[in-house]
Amino acid sequence: MLLEVKDLGIAYGKAEPVVRHVSFQLEQGEILAIVGESGSGKTTVIRAIQHVLPGGGHIAEGQLLFEGKDTQKESAEMHRMLDGKEVSMIFQDSGAMMNPIRPIGQQFRDYLSLHGLTDEKEAHERMIDMLHMVRLPDPEQILKSYTFELSGGMRQRVGIAMAMAFHPKLLLADEPTSALDVTTQAAIVKEMMEVRNRMNTSIIIVTHNMGVAAYMADRIMVMRQGRMVEYGKAEDVIYYPKEDYTRMLLSAVPRLGGETA
Ligand SMILES: Nc1ncnc2c1ncn2[C@@H]1O[C@H](COP(=O)(O)OP(=O)(O)OP(=O)(O)O)[C@@H](O)[C@H]1O
Ligand SMILES: [Mg+2]
Repeated sequence: MLLEVKDLGIAYGKAEPVVRHVSFQLEQGEILAIVGESGSGKTTVIRAIQHVLPGGGHIAEGQLLFEGKDTQKESAEMHRMLDGKEVSMIFQDSGAMMNPIRPIGQQFRDYLSLHGLTDEKEAHERMIDMLHMVRLPDPEQILKSYTFELSGGMRQRVGIAMAMAFHPKLLLADEPTSALDVTTQAAIVKEMMEVRNRMNTSIIIVTHNMGVAAYMADRIMVMRQGRMVEYGKAEDVIYYPKEDYTRMLLSAVPRLGGETA
């Protein structure tokens, strides 16, 4: 088992936990979608997995096991694994996470060297390979570009390329398509599916879009007010939802890029 989350509870500062009793398992290569209303705790859950909770956020209850190892046991090795080598994250707008006044290539190279890939030639090859993989035309030119010179979809492809640079086993994606128009949204969703198919990467995707969840996920978790209200195989959740809340989310499914999901 790649990831086991057992009765997870997460609190910010000294306040009561905002997330409680979250449990699920993820096999290598599986895709889990987390859906639910704003403030339900989706981002909190995936940040907890990578141990990057802001504002005094911490795991208050339960366990997180990555390949059977307790990720709360602090060690340099565990830190390195969670921070890009084995687990990496992409965000709603990868461009906004980058420095607007430095070329993308310099920042990509910094990221690689921070994670131990310091050889100039090897780093360059890795960057070009990854940009090719996400189907960006003219990778050499992309490396020289600034974020503002790329479209939203291109920036997300760069984000995926960087996140996948060390072939992590788990990719965490926090609404990676929400900032994009529907056509680009479909292209990025397909790109992530291909990454999974080619590298057998597990993905946890947070999305407001049930259409994206239905298209991508093997399993779906529905969250509401910090609790998981529904969790199961995607087809069960979609065709036989147990909760009215899930039915409500399903009744407003936007179609993916105009295609039938
Ligand atoms: N840095 C923080 N400090 C204190 N409380 C926080 C912090 N971040 C989130 N919270 C609280 O945790 C709860 C869950 O928030 P979270 O951001 O995980 O929701 P979400 O499901 O990702 O929402 P959205 O769909 O709007 O992104 C909310 O009640 C929120 O107010
Ligand atoms: Mg969020």
